Amino acid sequence: MYSIGIITASDKGACGERQDVSGAMIKSMLMGLGEVRHYVVVPDEQEMLAQELINMIDNLGIDLVLTTGGTGLGPRDVTPEATLAVIDKIVPGISEAMRAKSLEKTSRAMLSRAVAGIRGRSLIINLPGSPKGVRECLEVALPVLEHGLAILKGEAGECGQE
Ligand code: MTE
Repeated sequence: MYSIGIITASDKGACGERQDVSGAMIKSMLMGLGEVRHYVVVPDEQEMLAQELINMIDNLGIDLVLTTGGTGLGPRDVTPEATLAVIDKIVPGISEAMRAKSLEKTSRAMLSRAVAGIRGRSLIINLPGSPKGVRECLEVALPVLEHGLAILKGEAGECGQE
C-alpha cells in the first residue's frame, strides 16, 4: 500500500466558495492502491502549488501525489508549471494516455495541459479539475500505477510479464 497525497488547485475551493468534489473522487478511486495521508486545497498560485508538492514528497514522504485542476488555458491555470518546476523526470506516457483516451469521450480533453513526472522516488500526476475529468483520466492511469510505483520504489522484480 502506498501513501497518497491529493492537491486540489482551485481559487474558489481555497477560499471556501466551492466544495471540492474532485478531491473526494480521487480518494475513493485510489482506495485499493494506498492510503490518502494528506489532502489540501491550494489557490492557483504556482509557488504555493510547488511548495506543497515539495512538502508532500520531501517532508511527508508521500509516494504518489495527484493534483486536480489548474491544467487548462485560463490565465490562472498553473498546475503543470508548478509540477514541471519540481520534478526530476517527466513521465509523458501517463498524460499522453489520459489525453488520448479522454479524446474518445470529449474533444475538450485537448484543452488540458496536464503533465506527470517523478521527484525523487515519488510520482506526481496532474488531473483536470472537473469530477468527470478526474474519473475519466484516473480510470486510464489506475491500472498501471501499482507497477509503476513498484518500479519507482525499487520493489519490482520482473518487468517482462503482464
Ligand atoms: N478530460 C476528460 N477526460 N474529461 C473532461 O471532461 N475536460 C476538459 C479537459 N480535460 C475534460 C478533460 C476541459 S473542458 C478543460 S478546460 C481542461 O480539461 C482543463 O481543466 P482544468 O483547468 O480544470 O484542469
